[in-house]
Amino acid sequence: MEDALHVPVLLQECLDGLAIDTDGVYLDGTLGLGGHSFEIASRLTKGRLICIDKDDFALKRASERLAPFAGRVTFVHSDFRYASSVVRDLGVGSVNGMLFDLGASSPQLDDAERGFSYMQDAPLDMRMDRTSSLTAYDVVNTYPAEDLARIFFEYGEEKFSRKIAAAIEKVRMAHPLETTSELVSVIKGAMPASALREKQHPAKRCFQAIRIEVNDELGAVREMMRTAPDALAPGGRLCVISFHSLEDRIVKTEIQKRENGCTCPREAPICTCGFVRTLRSVTRKPITASEAELKSNPRSRSAKLRIAERV
Ligand SMILES: C[S@@+](CC[C@H](N)C(=O)[O-])C[C@H]1O[C@@H](n2cnc3c(N)ncnc32)[C@H](O)[C@@H]1O
Ligand SMILES: [Zn+2]
Repeated sequence: MEDALHVPVLLQECLDGLAIDTDGVYLDGTLGLGGHSFEIASRLTKGRLICIDKDDFALKRASERLAPFAGRVTFVHSDFRYASSVVRDLGVGSVNGMLFDLGASSPQLDDAERGFSYMQDAPLDMRMDRTSSLTAYDVVNTYPAEDLARIFFEYGEEKFSRKIAAAIEKVRMAHPLETTSELVSVIKGAMPASALREKQHPAKRCFQAIRIEVNDELGAVREMMRTAPDALAPGGRLCVISFHSLEDRIVKTEIQKRENGCTCPREAPICTCGFVRTLRSVTRKPITASEAELKSNPRSRSAKLRIAERV
């Protein structure tokens, strides 16, 4: 964990945001390497920590790291979209704080075999949960070209989305695309020379888009934001770190809906629409990394932390 890449993002900000009570119950919906969880668990005395990850490998590694706190930590292999059911099924009632550090972890991205990286050759996989069925291979080889183009455009903001989708369609008529390298070369082949000279790797945007699709990353965040806050005790805190605008928009909108979702006409003297406020934003603007963190941890560059409190 001394490795700079593995330093948890916005750590102090999350610990402050969660306002940890040593006797409280907390949930980390994105355990990963357990960086945030380690610090939360070490602050608990009678409290308890529930750790969720959909990657069985992450659970295994992090549970070794968190072994010193084994008595107060519960590990659950699940999708964080089910966080509120996980809390209910454990018979906990409600929790005092929840943390979600979205996206993929560095071991997932660095492990060539898992097929997340456009820099290393591997079978097209990209599943965070290796027990789930949809892989990058399925997306690339079976999705209609117009769906591919839409995904590249919406999830990757790829300007050449249609050209790339058409190129994939053409290649896969002859044979399926099997590897990340094959996909990278098809993507590159569909882009004009000027785009290939840009600083960003030409396949970065499409790879991000396929990863979001394979793991239904936006669907999971949406479902979590709709249901997880109901498992918070009054005064309980919700902390969400997102890494791109699509995620941040969902987090922001869902907090707003729970905070100010009254649909009565503005001139109405009292609210009659049945709206009940269930969250209050603690931070008006998202918290971003300090200068010091930006210098030491490149991953923090696009991180945005939003904090809300259960009313
Ligand atoms: C950025 S890492 C978390 C790093 C962690 N905070 C740390 O300090 O080590 C994100 C983790 O969330 C997991 N994950 C992503 N989406 C998930 C989902 N919908 N449900 C459960 N786990 C998810 C990934 O498998 C990955 O391990
Ligand atoms: Zn109203």
